[in-house]
Amino acid sequence: MAQATITLYPSRRIATIQPNLYGHFIEHLGECVYGGIWVGEGSPIANTDGIRNDVVQLLRRMRPPVVRWPGGCFADDYHWEHGIGPRAQRRRTVNLHWGETVETNAFGTHEFLRFCELLGAAPYICGNVGSGSPRELRDWVEYCNFAGDSTLAQQRAANGHPEPFRVRFWGVGNENWGCGGNLTPEEYATEYRRFATYLRSFSGTPLTLIACGPSGNDPHWTRRFFTKLGGFPNLQCFAAHYYCGTAGTATNYTVDQWYQLLEQAARMEPLIVQQRAILDGFDPQRRIGLIVDEWGTWHPPAEERNRPLHWQQNTIRDALVAALTLDTFNRHADKVVMGNIAQMLNVLQAVVLTEEDRALVTPTGHVYTIYAPHQGAEAILADFAAEPISYAGGGQLFGLAGSASLRDDRLFLTAVNPHASEPVEARLRLVDGAEARGGEMTTLAADDIHAHNTFEAPETVKPATRPLNVSGRELTVTLPPASVNALSLVL
Ligand code: AHR
Repeated sequence: MAQATITLYPSRRIATIQPNLYGHFIEHLGECVYGGIWVGEGSPIANTDGIRNDVVQLLRRMRPPVVRWPGGCFADDYHWEHGIGPRAQRRRTVNLHWGETVETNAFGTHEFLRFCELLGAAPYICGNVGSGSPRELRDWVEYCNFAGDSTLAQQRAANGHPEPFRVRFWGVGNENWGCGGNLTPEEYATEYRRFATYLRSFSGTPLTLIACGPSGNDPHWTRRFFTKLGGFPNLQCFAAHYYCGTAGTATNYTVDQWYQLLEQAARMEPLIVQQRAILDGFDPQRRIGLIVDEWGTWHPPAEERNRPLHWQQNTIRDALVAALTLDTFNRHADKVVMGNIAQMLNVLQAVVLTEEDRALVTPTGHVYTIYAPHQGAEAILADFAAEPISYAGGGQLFGLAGSASLRDDRLFLTAVNPHASEPVEARLRLVDGAEARGGEMTTLAADDIHAHNTFEAPETVKPATRPLNVSGRELTVTLPPASVNALSLVL
């Protein structure tokens, strides 16, 4: 059995963990929106205003704080006016990026905001810079947020929502270095300034404007963008995208590929460290929040059945990717203010999969429920000491990793054991005079590193919780191989 020591420092606070680190992303792609969320009011699938009840119920358990929409690449070819008004009269457009499917525009602004309302999540709308105009985006903000008697506000009321929606988070384009216009950082900085000039905090709703950040950890995009931006003040957040990709396929991989993918996912940490260092150079007061508004695994297309675009199965390996990424965000809670896994349903690293009238929670989805107590708690320093794991080709991976937070008298510790077949005996040390009086431990693990949930066996991978017999400053726990663990300790 591998050995590790976790030292917890309850008085060494990092920052409040913004709940939005646990955010999501939905795009008009494959069956994320149509089929996954939207079935329409006349559907035999139980729904509220056209939105699937089963999906809402499963997602609410994860406490989703924020949802980004409508893309992705789709955002820079989306024209919001097509998605309002009577559905039967909405324009039918072609989804340029995702299979040239016909977009009925049935799921538009009101439907998205209703979905957020049902989830209890804040909306984050990504605007169209690539093929749109500053006027189109400023009008969208007015349509959503203006409380007065303008024509756009009247139109919103006529479409069923007299009250302003008060949407706070607005993205100024998506991947503008690629599908969002193929711009250079300098060109995007110029566009950003032009668009942001017209984006206003109508009727007391302050806007958080989110600029397009780099593809992965590209330092040049960040430096060149901020150099050209030249101190323009109307920018609150900067958003990188990082997909850790795959190793093998979604469900078929060797033990070395298991480690390889986890190592690729762990590169989120150097990305954050380097990007925040560059930002500090331009923003020494640290006013700009760092966001990762698309991240996750990206496996080759599923071979089984006739799956929709970018549908992928999700195993215990994906769950470990999610857990170690969320732990990384927690450790950088003083800089990272939002994270949005790609994507919420049926696409890439989904938390819920649907098939006709059935819906299941993936292992990744379980991680979101298990990790929910971190939301809004104070991140504290935790030191994980364990021998690294060596694998084929000279690869190395951490032997144990995690994060910890504190809320009132509750210390919440999450830890990933990445060993494919070896448990870790972890000795927990509470310092700063803290003592535990009781607690419980939740574990997500499986006998097989390829384990996943199917519609035939939807509960193959699910969490189990047990009480912990603990009192004092030390505790030893066994973390099963290939597992995600959460310890809630009463101090
Ligand atoms: O999430 C799928 C796609 O990945 C998004 O549309 C795009 O932003 C990214 O390249």
